[in-house]
Amino acid sequence: MSVQYGAISWNRQKKVYDLTLVSLLVLYLAVFVGVGAWRNPSATAETLLIRAFGTAAFLLLNVVLCIGPLARLDRRFLPLLYNRRHLGVTTFLLGLAHGGFALFQFHALGNANPLVSLFISNPRYGSVADFPFQALGFFALIILFLMAATSHDFWLRNLSAPTWKRLHMLVYVAYALLVAHVTLGALQTETNPVLAAALIVGVVTVLSLHVVAAFREGRVDRARHQAVEEGFVEVCKVDRITEKCATIISLSGERVAVFRYDGKVSAISNACQHQNGPLGEGRIIDGCVTCPWHGYQYQPESGAAPPPFKEKIPTFRVKIVKGSVFVHPHPNPPGTRVEPAKIGSAQVDVTEAQSR
Ligand code: HEM
Ligand code: FES
Repeated sequence: MSVQYGAISWNRQKKVYDLTLVSLLVLYLAVFVGVGAWRNPSATAETLLIRAFGTAAFLLLNVVLCIGPLARLDRRFLPLLYNRRHLGVTTFLLGLAHGGFALFQFHALGNANPLVSLFISNPRYGSVADFPFQALGFFALIILFLMAATSHDFWLRNLSAPTWKRLHMLVYVAYALLVAHVTLGALQTETNPVLAAALIVGVVTVLSLHVVAAFREGRVDRARHQAVEEGFVEVCKVDRITEKCATIISLSGERVAVFRYDGKVSAISNACQHQNGPLGEGRIIDGCVTCPWHGYQYQPESGAAPPPFKEKIPTFRVKIVKGSVFVHPHPNPPGTRVEPAKIGSAQVDVTEAQSR
C-alpha cells in the first residue's frame, strides 16, 4: 500500500465517479420506464421496473467485464478501473431490485414461501422453451452478493489475495448464468428483436475484448529469452527502458517488471499484491514503484511497501553487461533486498546484483 492510498476515504475522484454513475442510472431507469409505459400502456409498473432494473444490471455487468481488458489495451481507460468495485456493488443492488420485484410479482401470492416457490413452481428443467430460468438469475445474484459483500480491502486482507481473486473470478460464472437466464427466459417470449440484439452485441464485445487483451499479453509470455552464463537471461538494452518505467518479461512462467531509475536497474514481480495489477505498467513515483491500478507502492530494491505498510513481492537478481540488462529467473522470497545494477557510463558494466 502507499502513503497516498486512501482505501476508505471519499476523495473527490470517487465522488465524481459515483455521482456520474448514479446520474446515468437514474436517467436510464427513467427513460426505460417512460418509453416502456408510452409504447405499452397496458404494462404494469412492476413489470416495467423488473425490466428496467434487470436490463440496467446486465448492461452494467457487461461494462464491468469490459473495463479490465480495455485498461490493458489502452491506458486511457485506467480511470474507469480505479473504482470498478463501485460498479460491481451497484450491479448487485440493481440485480437485487430486479430479483426482489420479480419474486414479489411472480411468487409472493401463493401458499409457498416465495424463495421455495421460485424453485418448485416450474419443474420443467428438461424443456428449453419453459426452462425455470429464474433459478439461474437467483444463483447469479448469490455470486454478485458474495462479490459485493467482500469487495472492500478488509476482505482482501482477511481472505488473502489468491482466495479473494478466485472468489471474484466467479463473476464469469455469474455472467454465463445470466446469459442463460435471459436466453431461456425473456428471449423465449419477447418478439421485439432489440433485447436479443443487445444480448449478442454484449456477449461478442466482452468475449472479443478478452481474446484481444489475452493475445496482446501472451506476446510477453511467448517471447523467448536466451539463458546465458550463470543462468542469467538477457532482457533488452538498458536504453530501451524509459527512465522511471519498466519493461515486462516472462521468465520461467512468471512475469517480471524490470525498472530503470536514477542510474540503476531493479527487477521485481509484475503482480501487485492488491489485485494482481501489472506493476510494470506503472511508474516510479517518490522512489517507489507505483501500481497503475490503485496506487499501491513498492520499493524497487526490496519489493517491500514503504513503512508502515506490509505488502511484499518477490525480487530478482539483475546485472548489466555491455549495455544489456540480464535478470536471473529464480525469484527471491518476497521482500528480499537486492542491490540494483548500476548503469555505467561507458563500456563497463558488470555490476552484478547481490542478494543480501
Ligand atoms: C432472484 C433472482 C432473479 C429473479 C427471480 C429474476 C426473474 C426474472 C424474470 C421473471 C424475468 C422476466 C421478466 C419479464 O419478461 O417481464 C427476468 C428477466 C431478466 N433478468 Fe432476471 N431475475 C433474477 C436475477 C437477475 C439478475 C441478478 C440479473 C442481472 C444482473 C437479471 C437480469 C435479467 C435481464 C437482463 C432480463 C431480461 C429483461 C427483462 O425482461 O427484465 N436477473 N428475470
Ligand atoms: S493497487 Fe490495486 S492492483 Fe495494484
